Amino acid sequence: MKDDNFLRANNAQHLWHPMGHPGDLRSHAPTIITGAEGSSITDIDGHRTIDAVGGLWCVNLGYSNDTVKEAIAKQLYDLPYYSAFGGTSNPTAIEASYAVREFFAEDGMTRVFFTSGGSDSVETCLRLARQYHRLRAEPGRTKFLSLKKGYHGTHFGGASVNGNNRFRINYEPLMPGCFHLPSPYPYRNPFGEADPAVLAQNIAAAMEDEIAFQGAGSIAAFIMEPIQGAGGVIVPDASFMRLMREICDRHGILMIADEVITGFGRSGDWTGSRHWGVQPDMMCTAKGITSGYFPVGAALMNDKVAEVFENAGEDGGIYHGYTYSAHPVGAAAVTACLSETLRLDTKTNAAARGAQLYEGMLALQEKYDIIGDVRGGHGLMTGVELVSDRAAKTPMDMATMKRIHTATYEAGAMVRLGMHNILMSPPLVITEAEVQQIIDGLDAGFAAA
Ligand SMILES: Cc1ncc(COP(=O)(O)O)c(C=O)c1O
Repeated sequence: MKDDNFLRANNAQHLWHPMGHPGDLRSHAPTIITGAEGSSITDIDGHRTIDAVGGLWCVNLGYSNDTVKEAIAKQLYDLPYYSAFGGTSNPTAIEASYAVREFFAEDGMTRVFFTSGGSDSVETCLRLARQYHRLRAEPGRTKFLSLKKGYHGTHFGGASVNGNNRFRINYEPLMPGCFHLPSPYPYRNPFGEADPAVLAQNIAAAMEDEIAFQGAGSIAAFIMEPIQGAGGVIVPDASFMRLMREICDRHGILMIADEVITGFGRSGDWTGSRHWGVQPDMMCTAKGITSGYFPVGAALMNDKVAEVFENAGEDGGIYHGYTYSAHPVGAAAVTACLSETLRLDTKTNAAARGAQLYEGMLALQEKYDIIGDVRGGHGLMTGVELVSDRAAKTPMDMATMKRIHTATYEAGAMVRLGMHNILMSPPLVITEAEVQQIIDGLDAGFAAA
């Protein structure tokens, strides 16, 4: 390893960072994280903080799970790689697909297509949704519906259904035939409606209207996050996902749940869909599937979808996949991670610590006028929306956001900024004292602003 001076001098000189400005990062070097333990991270200066971001909504088991590390290390010696294209397979991938199937049995997901991450999983679901309709002799069903403020990764398909223009405009034109409905976001919404249940009804009506306008027979699928993560931790009314499911069913539209964040316990249930009492047709997963220890994702299908492919003639072939789909080392990480997730019952801790974090933020809202909205209370996903004028709901400027971020970090908690939102998704194994440290860190950060 090169010394610290080399790392500091070279950081961002050659390495382009995802979601970063290459010019800005050259002059304002990013924080270099050199180590991690439990729910904490340490930077190159030896400063240790609670990782309230959980890596990037993914390190559900924390950084010190030896069972997962040992499974990965062992697999590197047994079989570091073999392709799962067409005619070959490997034992760990078979075992992992069994573990995933068991994990999602209650959601009705029975088939697993491994990918290398969340964007791949979204792309896989979108493509297979179109192929499903072709196989059912409805090739005209090619369009997609999604929600504003949704985040579905950065591939062209995922970006096309994304509901935040920041991730779209530089890369347009995107895929045609993608239409966006309002987000179930009571704090700011086009209906001016603060009651989440009424808002859910309004969006359902907008969806019916859009389907009538497009023609139901032209729509392949509707994709949504059970709780919108990157868009600001937007928690819909408990009725919302069920309303969407009923509409999809009525019009022959597949429902894809993007569980890349909400899956594997983060929502306080094993999946976000289960949290809302809904069984989708397909699920996109990643992140918590390996707790970030290895890049893996999975697209999941129910019997209804799968049987159409399995019983089709030649056209049922899936001409889609990734070199690292069903990677044996990734698969070993999946099996170990799911078994640890269940053994530690991480969803129960996520629900309890999530409530603590949410209540902590509500208490800070009483203290600081700059907190416009606090969202969460469903597992360890918490969003705090900052405003410079509470009555006018004016979004906080980025210079102040960055000052709060720095002061919070110095006080012992790494949080994430999503525009004028503070986003938190710490490891699901976090302790009560560590959550308190996040709350205290933000208290110091807001005081500094
Ligand atoms: C809901 C959702 N879908 C898809 C993705 C894309 O996943 P990845 O970054 O692994 O490609 C993300 C990433 O944060 C996500 O939050």
